[in-house]
Amino acid sequence: MGTQEGLRLVEKDEGGVDRAFRADVLDGLSQSQKAIPARWLYDDAGSQLFEDITQVPEYYPTRAETQILTEEGESFAKMIGPGMAVVEFGSGSSVKTPLLLSAIEPAAYVPLDIAGDFLRAAAADLAQKFPGLPVYPVEADFMRRVELPGEVADLPKLGFFPGSTIGNMVARTAVDLLRNMRETLGTGAQLLIGMDLIKDEAVLKAAYDDAGGVTAQFNCNLLRRINRELGGDIPVGSLHHEARWNDRFARIEMHLVADGDIAFAVDGQRFTMDRGETIHTENSHKFDRRSANTLLLAGGWEPRQRWLDGEERFSLILAEARPARTAP
Ligand code: AVJ
Repeated sequence: MGTQEGLRLVEKDEGGVDRAFRADVLDGLSQSQKAIPARWLYDDAGSQLFEDITQVPEYYPTRAETQILTEEGESFAKMIGPGMAVVEFGSGSSVKTPLLLSAIEPAAYVPLDIAGDFLRAAAADLAQKFPGLPVYPVEADFMRRVELPGEVADLPKLGFFPGSTIGNMVARTAVDLLRNMRETLGTGAQLLIGMDLIKDEAVLKAAYDDAGGVTAQFNCNLLRRINRELGGDIPVGSLHHEARWNDRFARIEMHLVADGDIAFAVDGQRFTMDRGETIHTENSHKFDRRSANTLLLAGGWEPRQRWLDGEERFSLILAEARPARTAP
């Protein structure tokens, strides 16, 4: 379905403006706590800046998760077994996916992504690294239920959702996604999911406000994108990046804070911000063993095994979609 010719996953108006982006920005800036959904951070420049973030010394999650995948291969193979169709939610990153695939002897690889270009590039890359492995890319919004290719219908499924991307969602959105993953993969499927752990506040804040200012660039890029794509005149130099730990919700929040009273327009609409007022741009929820398990169970997944990196900063959890049965 997602690979049909002419299917438009991004809707643009006559001026070439992404309708959903404009609606999200105008709605978000009209709220008393200004907020813009985090997905809009990832235009081409933003995606590159995120790649750069994974290399900064303070940003540990990528290194920690890669370490688990590197060191626990045998343990994954034992728990998961061979012959799985690995369904990755989001196109495979160049490093993590091959580590998993070489550990478990899979029968097929199915990357799901809404961005067709990234998807095809990642699929081609993987197919080249694993010559005997059938690769079936599917262009689709993985937040919804996805129809998998017929070729993998009879194979056991392993969902792969690394990076603690689940942490970017509030609980009810995360539960919706987990339930849709269960629908997509079917009863009996397994899910290997990365979840970042609650830890010392200073370590967390540094990871999201690195001394080199890469994360600040990543956050401020959203303002430049709004100005460019939505005809805005936001004074980008008058707002600064801030990472806050919200203890009540166990999450890091990224904000853009106004350094003074400012006024600007986006798409012809006027907005003002008082000094100190913020635009909330991202949540990154952190978990402990119990909160991770509760979230998975709410989404229909029973946790089976958990792996941590040597410094216990990050977790990879294997869960199973057990058939529903009557409680208790
Ligand atoms: C998209 C989940 C991998 O929340 O850690 C990194 C995004 N934002 N630094 C995260 C992000 C700021 C990241 N993930």
